[in-house]
Amino acid sequence: MPAQSDPSQTDSECYPALIVPAIGTWPRFDSPLRLGVMASGTGTNFEALHDAIACGDLDAQIRVLVVNNPGCGASERARRLGIRCELRDHRRFASREAMDQELARTFKNEDIEAVVMAGWMRIVTPVLIDAFPGRLINIHPSLLPSFKGMDAIGQCLKSGVTIAGCTVHEVLKDVDAGPILAQASVPIFCDDDRERLTRRIQTQEHRLLPWATAIAGQRWRSARETQG
Ligand code: GRF
Repeated sequence: MPAQSDPSQTDSECYPALIVPAIGTWPRFDSPLRLGVMASGTGTNFEALHDAIACGDLDAQIRVLVVNNPGCGASERARRLGIRCELRDHRRFASREAMDQELARTFKNEDIEAVVMAGWMRIVTPVLIDAFPGRLINIHPSLLPSFKGMDAIGQCLKSGVTIAGCTVHEVLKDVDAGPILAQASVPIFCDDDRERLTRRIQTQEHRLLPWATAIAGQRWRSARETQG
């Protein structure tokens, strides 16, 4: 049975902290992580990454945001936040591979060490994945491996499950299938609609994505040290 909703409590109070991960001590690096970010839509996750950097939690810099939809919310946010934004409109490329070649080139030109897909609504190909092996991560609005692909929240609501959530994972060729870096879960209440559940999941996404990026950053940097 879905949990009863109690309107006297706010979302953050009415379910146990147990099911969302505690954020630990943020790692520091010898120099900030050099990130590229990809976004297609509203850009709230992109801004959450920016905010975590700005307040000194996430030791990183966003060198460039790439968007594929002209005038999307993410590009407006980049303008307001003073972050460089490049448009790579997929409609102008002959193939997914040609688009990904250009994305890889853009990030390599900026000396990016890792790329965060923060609401990127396109399938990426090995052309991009292999350009950043183990260094391309994605956020997905479900507890993977459940509800892969499009409309994860709709799939979840239809299925009758009582716990939803979000996942940050490494990107592999198979969609939404790479190794999981971090997850957060939220309850589904009996009177939930899509909008309410989406808001609850996104609140967790905005905590989880910067934290998962920091955790992944520790691996990226220690791999670099091992390789010399
Ligand atoms: C997020 O829910 C993310 O999980 C999914 O797309 C949405 C993007 O939201 N991949 P925003 O553009 O970051 O606001």
